[in-house]
Amino acid sequence: MPYALELADRAPRERYFDPDFYQAEVELLWPRVWQMACRLEEIAEPHDFAVYDILDQSIVVVRTEDMGVTAFQNACRHRGVQVAVGRGTCESGFTCPFHGWCYGPDGKNTAVTRKRTFSEHNLQPGDLDLTPVRCEVWGGCAWINLDDDAPPLRECIEPFATIMDAWEMESLRAEWWYAIRLPVNWKLAEAAFLEQYHVIEAHPQLVIPGRFAPRDPAQFDPRTFVDAEIHYLRTMCEGMAGMVHANDVRIAEGLRDIELPADPELAMATWHRTFNDAVVDWHRAAGATIPDLNELEANGMNQPMGYCFPHYFVLPMYSSASSYRFRPLGPEQTLMEIWSLTRYPAGQEPATPERPEPWDFDDPRVPPIPTQDFSNLPRQQRGIHAKGFEYLRLSEQLEGGVANFERTVDGFLAGRPYEQLLPALRAINLNPLERPIVDLGF
Ligand code: FES
Ligand SMILES: [Fe+2]
Repeated sequence: MPYALELADRAPRERYFDPDFYQAEVELLWPRVWQMACRLEEIAEPHDFAVYDILDQSIVVVRTEDMGVTAFQNACRHRGVQVAVGRGTCESGFTCPFHGWCYGPDGKNTAVTRKRTFSEHNLQPGDLDLTPVRCEVWGGCAWINLDDDAPPLRECIEPFATIMDAWEMESLRAEWWYAIRLPVNWKLAEAAFLEQYHVIEAHPQLVIPGRFAPRDPAQFDPRTFVDAEIHYLRTMCEGMAGMVHANDVRIAEGLRDIELPADPELAMATWHRTFNDAVVDWHRAAGATIPDLNELEANGMNQPMGYCFPHYFVLPMYSSASSYRFRPLGPEQTLMEIWSLTRYPAGQEPATPERPEPWDFDDPRVPPIPTQDFSNLPRQQRGIHAKGFEYLRLSEQLEGGVANFERTVDGFLAGRPYEQLLPALRAINLNPLERPIVDLGF
């Protein structure tokens, strides 16, 4: 495969604009991976449907009578017209708008208009039903895979699934949902979120003095530390319009006068434990489902980012989370979606957000932190076209998340079998931040 990473820490620039490389991804990567197709709020009731488009493929995901999910290719078996658009309810199934062929909510053909005018070989039983697509549910989302030979969903998304189960992902609900069109290759777009190396330069407001133990413990002032923590939480909350949820910031503000030990390590640990407990208590008292955050911490599950190859992210923070999905729209264009997820008392969940109209990357409605990330991406996409620029050079220690992701892409483009791809997926489907380059087995 041309433009593979020959060295794990060098990514040839052609990966991000070469049309043949892009075509290889279209043929060898996307048809073989589990993809988050929709959040289940979109298909809350039996017969609700939601369309998921990836490249030139369109898939209809439908809620079944027993609250499972099923999926079909979005193409009428007559002359190929898409039977569904956007999302909605298909109480009596789908009627093709062209010549009126009908399909049940289970995809079975129920009517062919003027059937007798077709010859027998065009009316073979089974041949007229919408073509099924594999579909499974996990983590409050429906997932599809276009490859009948792929292993089951869960096998492909571990250990991400186990970590996010501990966070009780399926009880999070979307508070808002934005979409942004980025003039950049999808892998460059994702890579901007696969490392923390950029934070100091790109998000200077997140570097808050007083949050970390000073070299000289005598210099430590618990009050300054608590103020710095609250300032950080507020900045994250405003910067992401969620992630650290406004409720949690208010809970932290209520703890401002906490008495902390003079020892820095002890003081920090006490603050985190107390704040975690206060968040859990507040949400449980309100009637919401929330895991014990200190237990997550003790089990090593309190990680700021869960990554699921190839295009899904969850960034949990206390009661809430941000979630991302990236889809290529062309070699140099990406659709990024952001969900803000939080917890509600049972029965008080808000209405499902409308499907978002994509904004431009510099739209003033984009929250401040992603605005900072997006501002660099068009400049990067133009920069890598420079004649003298050959490859992205990655930090072995700090940008392993990027290198591991790109090498997994290469595993798919090389057409490797699932028995080789599964160990690689297991090695990268977890927090990519501050992660070194790891052995993927190929
Ligand atoms: S294309 Fe669907 S009925 Fe003709
Ligand atoms: Fe960032």
